[in-house]
Amino acid sequence: MKTVLIATEKPFTPAAVDGIREVFDKAGYSLILLEKYSSAKEWQEAAADVDAMIIRSDKANADIIGSAKNLKIIVRAGAGYDNIDLEACNQKGVVAMNTPGQNSNAVAELAFGMMLYHIRNRFDGSSGSELRGKKLGIHAYGNVGSFVGTIAKGFGMDVYAFDPFVDRKEIEDNGIRPVDSEKELYSLCDFVSLHIPVNEKTKKSIGYELLSQMPGNGVLVNTARKEVIDEEALLKVMEERSGFAYLSDIAPDCREEIESRYPGRYVFTAKKMGAQTAEANINAGIAAASQIVNFLEKGDRTFQVN
Ligand code: 3PG
Repeated sequence: MKTVLIATEKPFTPAAVDGIREVFDKAGYSLILLEKYSSAKEWQEAAADVDAMIIRSDKANADIIGSAKNLKIIVRAGAGYDNIDLEACNQKGVVAMNTPGQNSNAVAELAFGMMLYHIRNRFDGSSGSELRGKKLGIHAYGNVGSFVGTIAKGFGMDVYAFDPFVDRKEIEDNGIRPVDSEKELYSLCDFVSLHIPVNEKTKKSIGYELLSQMPGNGVLVNTARKEVIDEEALLKVMEERSGFAYLSDIAPDCREEIESRYPGRYVFTAKKMGAQTAEANINAGIAAASQIVNFLEKGDRTFQVN
C-alpha cells in the first residue's frame, strides 16, 4: 500500500483534508497527517517511509528529501515552489510538482483586501479614498495577475500589465493595457501589484530604479514573495516619499523599522494568508492529491517543475 504524508505547518481547512483523504481512499493509499509540526525532525520522522508528500510553504530542504527514502513525488499545493530543494529532488530522482492556478483567486482577493484596508485608513472611521479611476499596474500577468485584472476592472480601475512572457493580445483581450517595460508600469501606476516568482533573477529585483518611478503616494502591493524586494531601496523610497505605502502578505525583514518610522503606510498580515481560504485549500489540496495518484498510477508528469 502506498503512503502519502501531508506536512503542513499551516494546516489545510478540515474540508480540504477530507477531500484529499477521499482521493487517496479511492486509490487505496494510506494518509499520514502532520500539521503544525514543531521541528524539522518531527517532519523527517514522519517522512521516513512515505511514497509521496503534499506540502504548502513548508521548507522541503535536502535533509527532508534525503530522509524520505521511499519518496517518489512531492507536490507543493500552491504556486510557488521556491521552498523545495529541486537539486535534492533531482539527485534522488524525486518528481516535484506545484498546482498552478488553484489558489490564485484567493491571493488576488487578498491584494484588494489590503488595498481597501489601506486607502480606507484601516477602517478607523476617518475619510479615505477609492480605487475607482486609479491606475493599477499588474507586474506579471500569470494566474494571480489575471484574477487581479478581472477584479480591478470591477472596481473601475484603469488596469495595466507588464509581462514579457505573455502575448500582448491575450492581455488586451482581457481589457488590460500591456506596457513595454517595468519602468513604464511603475511610472504610470498609483498601485502596483506584484506577482513575479522568486528565483535567482528576481531576488531583490524590485529596487530603487523601479520604486522611485512611482508617484509620491504610490502603493506597492506584495502578495508574491518578500525576497523579490530590495528592502534597502524600499526604506529609501519610504523615507523620500511621504505618501508611499507598502502592503505585503509577507512582512519584510525590515518590518520593525517600517512600523516604527512610517505609521499608517504599511499593511502586513499576521501570517502569510493569501491562499488561506477554504476554497483555495480545497482546490489546491485535491489537485495535489489527484496529481500524486495520476503520477504513481499512470506516470502523468503534468505540472512537474524539476
Ligand atoms: C503559493 O505560492 O501558492 C502561495 O504563496 C500560497 O502559500 P501557502 O500555501 O503557504 O499559503
